[in-house]
Amino acid sequence: MSENLHQLRCFGCGASLEGAEARPDFRCADCGDLFEVEYPGWSHRKGPDRPNPGALKWLWRERRCSSEGLDHSGVWRFRELLPILESFGNAVTLFEGNTPLYHLPRAAKRLGIDQLFAKHQGMNPTGSFKDTGMTAAMSVAKERGFEWVACASTGNTSAAMAAYAARAGLKSLVLIPDGKIAWGKLSQAMDYGAVTCQLKADFDGCLTLLTRIVNEAPIYLLNSVNPYRLEGQKTPAFEIAEAFDWNVPDHLIVPGGNLGNSSALGKGFREMLELGLTARMPKISVIQAAGANPLVRSLAENGGTSLEPVEAHTRATAIRIGNPASWRKAARAIQETGGWCLDVTEAEIAIAKAEIGAEGLGCEPASAVTLAGLKKLRAEGKIASSETVVLVLTGHTLKDADYTIEFHRGTLLSADESAGREAEIASLQRNAQVVEATPAAVLAALKGRAG
Ligand code: F0G
Repeated sequence: MSENLHQLRCFGCGASLEGAEARPDFRCADCGDLFEVEYPGWSHRKGPDRPNPGALKWLWRERRCSSEGLDHSGVWRFRELLPILESFGNAVTLFEGNTPLYHLPRAAKRLGIDQLFAKHQGMNPTGSFKDTGMTAAMSVAKERGFEWVACASTGNTSAAMAAYAARAGLKSLVLIPDGKIAWGKLSQAMDYGAVTCQLKADFDGCLTLLTRIVNEAPIYLLNSVNPYRLEGQKTPAFEIAEAFDWNVPDHLIVPGGNLGNSSALGKGFREMLELGLTARMPKISVIQAAGANPLVRSLAENGGTSLEPVEAHTRATAIRIGNPASWRKAARAIQETGGWCLDVTEAEIAIAKAEIGAEGLGCEPASAVTLAGLKKLRAEGKIASSETVVLVLTGHTLKDADYTIEFHRGTLLSADESAGREAEIASLQRNAQVVEATPAAVLAALKGRAG
């Protein structure tokens, strides 16, 4: 029996399609908008396909002790809420998900918040949240018999895609902006065997070119315009709700680049509410870098009815995106939950990243926008001290070691960028020192760190 219960619905005009009928670029033939996966059987309150919330909560908990391979995946553990495959036996998994939810006691104290947590998606197999989406969409690619898969990327999608393609025995093509991705990510695409093309174009240019390529050649597109990516990326919402015993936190803060992740998490929380697994949605706020803030502008200037692309500039290369594909879906997640969308400067990102490092966690620069954004929201009185807040840390600190080293050496930010915050930055910098190989010299090095 087929385990596939889904269809695709256009986010713009509402047109419905069978999964395999979508165009290779995943754009609606009528209105050009993106699709969402939907499960028609869930809308009939007493229908046989509608999941039973109590039974699911029990089953998902049981699976944590199961010895079956698929149950070890934090995505496929929730497979009843992503019935997108003919057979779950086709799932391609690296045992992604099940990522830790850490308390951030020092940042919480500084900000006067009781309950502050980080959901660290950088603790996935390839070091970023992309793995949860890639397991889902790669499984569809494999099941549908594709030989080649491809993505445009600022680095993490390509790392994840290359790894999952290798596991699935598929060939992969990566288009990345030349010189604008972190070395850790580039090295992963090479190591996992992708054909990696560095283009003289930014991320937006790479994606536009790839859209043309997939319309000409039988290559399966794995950017987050592919709606199956978002089905996998919605599952951290289930993990978060489960960790809070199905009482969702008050506020979720997510970095915004191409805006697939905030859209996916919004979908996850919305579906849990609709199915009766939870009683409400958290506020979802999206934070962008000030130099790559098209959604911030769109919401401020026209309430999110249209989006003007920008030329993006930020050292947080993962979110260096000026024309985000999923902006309408992300705008809905923010607006329906009463969250906010704001931007943060390069200095604010660097400081927040060092603070997350000092908690013993670390993350990549793009992830640190969440803490920087939280500080602003708190200063503006938009988050009460009693609220429970979860920051979604999207990438591992080792992805972009150059950024970290430059911050601690004091060569990252320009004088203009750090103006007025020099003392704060200096208090966080921990440069490595060249020290003579004697006990006295090493012990002397400790003196600078008293207190
Ligand atoms: N954080 C990290 C570490 C990322 O790699 C990305 C996106 C984002 C945040 C933003 O997520 O695009 O869903 O809004 N990276 C993509 C890539 C674009 O190609 O790896 P988003």
